Amino acid sequence: MTWGAAAARASAEAIRRRAGSEKPACAIVLGSGLGGLAARIGGAVRIPYGDVPGFPGATVAGHEGTLVVGTLAGRRVACLAGRFHMYEGHPAALAAFPARVLHALGAPVIFVSNAAGGVRRSFGPGDLMTIADHINLMWVNPLTGPVEPGDERFPDMSAPYDAALRAQLHAVAARERVPLAEGVYCGLLGPTYETPAEVRMLETLGADAVGMSTVPEVIVARAIGMRVAGVSLVTNKAAGISPEPIDHAHVVAVGKAAAERFERLVTGFVGGL
Ligand code: HPA
Repeated sequence: MTWGAAAARASAEAIRRRAGSEKPACAIVLGSGLGGLAARIGGAVRIPYGDVPGFPGATVAGHEGTLVVGTLAGRRVACLAGRFHMYEGHPAALAAFPARVLHALGAPVIFVSNAAGGVRRSFGPGDLMTIADHINLMWVNPLTGPVEPGDERFPDMSAPYDAALRAQLHAVAARERVPLAEGVYCGLLGPTYETPAEVRMLETLGADAVGMSTVPEVIVARAIGMRVAGVSLVTNKAAGISPEPIDHAHVVAVGKAAAERFERLVTGFVGGL
């Protein structure tokens, strides 16, 4: 497979040549508007995606497209500022490929983040939600096709988001006085935002937040044995819950406004690993 285990090993080798071979304690994936965390990483080696074999170069506005390897809260981290979305036309296996690469670098834990619409009616712009579970409504799975070496045919998904890591996030949130909810993230293909009828459907299905990412990489991360933690930043009430139209510039702006809280949360989390 183009974005399988062998390709990930080759990408990891190219990254190690630039950034050194020390294993990261944590891999971090930053969502729309949340790229500011990368600036907190000390002794950083910054690698543009175009220089990573298997990574397409360009991404979406609000997404940087840089892999940053360095130290956060005294721990070695490998941080992706920008991801590959299926709505860009990328296959699910490519959307999930960074998880394979970060695993090949030796990271045992992956922290994923995203901007999301609030389906839970009490959610509003700026709310943070740790992801307890997800619903895959992208209608594809990055693991279809031949089984990659090291993968299983039928990976268990009964605990996709690690309970101990979630508890750790809540403990850091309490210590840092960062309000942190918990809920179910639903991944849709995009690139349109949802209709109000779709949001009512998602509410019925048990979703608390909705977005266009995260699910592919979490599926692969679990299949290859990484522990997963995740946080959604609610940038807007989902369609129909608020009369306001949803627009990407606003999504990115809310991300930037919430950045300080988000960064304290993630930094505290990484420091506790
Ligand atoms: N829907 C889907 N994705 C999103 C949203 C939304 O309302 N807001 C930010 N990302």
